[in-house]
Amino acid sequence: MPAPVIAATDLVKTYRVKGKPDFVAVDGLSFEVAPGESFGLLGPNGAGKSTTMKMIGAVSTRTGGSLKILGLDPDRYGPEIRSRLGVVPQQDNLDGELNARENLYIYGRYFGLPAKVCHQKADELLAFAQLQDKAKSKVDELSGGMKRRLTIARGLINDPRILLLDEPTTGLDPQARHILWDRLFRLKERGTTLVLTTHYMDEAEQLCDRLVVVDHGKIMAEGTPASLIREHSSREVLEVRFGSDRNAEVAPHLEGVGERVDVLPDRILIYTHDGDAALAALAERSLHPVTSLVRRSSLEDVFLRLTGRSLIE
Ligand SMILES: Nc1ncnc2c1ncn2[C@@H]1O[C@H](COP(=O)(O)OP(=O)(O)OP(=O)(O)O)[C@@H](O)[C@H]1O
Ligand SMILES: [Mg+2]
Repeated sequence: MPAPVIAATDLVKTYRVKGKPDFVAVDGLSFEVAPGESFGLLGPNGAGKSTTMKMIGAVSTRTGGSLKILGLDPDRYGPEIRSRLGVVPQQDNLDGELNARENLYIYGRYFGLPAKVCHQKADELLAFAQLQDKAKSKVDELSGGMKRRLTIARGLINDPRILLLDEPTTGLDPQARHILWDRLFRLKERGTTLVLTTHYMDEAEQLCDRLVVVDHGKIMAEGTPASLIREHSSREVLEVRFGSDRNAEVAPHLEGVGERVDVLPDRILIYTHDGDAALAALAERSLHPVTSLVRRSSLEDVFLRLTGRSLIE
């Protein structure tokens, strides 16, 4: 086994809040990321994902536990670590007054790269991000998806071994998300280690070799997307709606249909190896939902199972 590029043990971050007890945002996380791996932190708002990413990125100090990035402790080797990472923060922090190319160029200079290298890299990365024709456009004039692509390009200016991506596609339309996923796949193929946070389970399923499900600063489960689904959910899910008022009323009559039943405010989820058979079983009990859908289990179901809550609230 190659040495991990990131190793966190009992990582803790507490925030001081005036007039209140300290708030524990990250509550004892332990995980390792192998070189070239694509590792995800999946969790709802406030789970502690960005806080964890900031500690990995050596821009926020930890309160407890141990953390090694490329074998180095960020408390002692912050600048070294930062120079070897690429960072795509949750909020784009591009310079809106400068054009796309200038943003890349200046970021490279900030890393101490020679001017000639910065020019060359800026052109390469504009091509990688499919933004050549926007090279001279001011950042304020770019769309959200273009800004995100530019931020990723900027994060690559120093040829990082690890790229940290905090919610890379939040707020983007499906096409823009797919373009971004494609770019991230290419990076992965080149051997870049990706660490990303998301609350989109399809994104986690697409991009992550392995992930941890985080809630309230704690790891609820860890594994590949497929193994998490296998372990914590059934093969298929039958989703039925009887109408908002009737769902709770119908629920007691579902005993024995499927392996498990979850009643949500707007629908009932029946976990089963065979969704069509479960639907037939409902009909036999004279239960006729207004709508029904048989689908494969997803990470959303895993999350619901582990926390009792939906991932996107
Ligand atoms: N600087 C801060 N001071 C005090 N509390 C903070 C600070 N930053 C974050 N928190 C709190 O820590 C918790 C975790 O926040 P964090 O930003 O890490 O969550 P997240 O998982 O990234 O959520 P989101 O999906 O909304 O981005 C939240 O309850 C947040 O309010
Ligand atoms: Mg966040």
